[in-house]
Amino acid sequence: MPQEWLQRWREGRIGFHRSETHPALIKHWGALAVPDGAKVLVPLCGKSLDMRWLAEQGHPVLGIELAAEAIEQFLAEGEGDISRYRQGHFSVYRQASVELWCGDFFHVHVEQAKEFQAFYDRAALIALPPATRQRYSLHLAQLLPPGARGLLVTLTHPGGPDAGPPFSVDDEEVRRLLAPNFELALLETSPPDERGLSEQVWSLCRRGPGRAGVAD
Ligand SMILES: C[S@@+](CC[C@H](N)C(=O)[O-])C[C@H]1O[C@@H](n2cnc3c(N)ncnc32)[C@H](O)[C@@H]1O
Repeated sequence: MPQEWLQRWREGRIGFHRSETHPALIKHWGALAVPDGAKVLVPLCGKSLDMRWLAEQGHPVLGIELAAEAIEQFLAEGEGDISRYRQGHFSVYRQASVELWCGDFFHVHVEQAKEFQAFYDRAALIALPPATRQRYSLHLAQLLPPGARGLLVTLTHPGGPDAGPPFSVDDEEVRRLLAPNFELALLETSPPDERGLSEQVWSLCRRGPGRAGVAD
């Protein structure tokens, strides 16, 4: 799967990328009441403009992305000097208040993640096949302290469970994967488009105290 993502970026097959900030982020972020200046984790970030919007709200942003192409393109479209260095498994890029780690999200260590108070997942959980979604949900919970809040944007489509990415992840699965470690509320479900594709927006708050439990 990682190789497939790298190939997609090489070939420019990035239909998931939006040329504008996601409307759900603009609409719902304020209601999360994330503290001013809180650092936001954006797993599987691509070159999402949502990171720029979060930075404009005064949040330092940390995006994690496998594909160097995505990161190079994001930085080329931004403003400000770029610094680069190596840290453990990751090549780290910094431009203004956005930091991008090029590497595998599953290699981010808990000790590297103490400072996150918020997160934003749009098309990250749904980019992953079924078995990996469980691992992702647990890893995300392990990286976040109790009280951390975030938005999750998922989707459902009629293609069946094996069709993807994007994979169809229904409400029941979202709750099964994330409810052990997060309080969650479904904020919005869009009406299905002509392909039968519908988007769901969730607010999450990391439960605590205690270690992240395993979703079964
Ligand atoms: C569907 S795209 C979504 C990108 C972004 N969140 C957006 O809204 O545009 C999923 C992204 O995750 C990246 N990715 C997939 N597996 C990853 C992993 N294990 N670690 C880091 N990035 C990964 C892919 O390269 C791709 O850019």
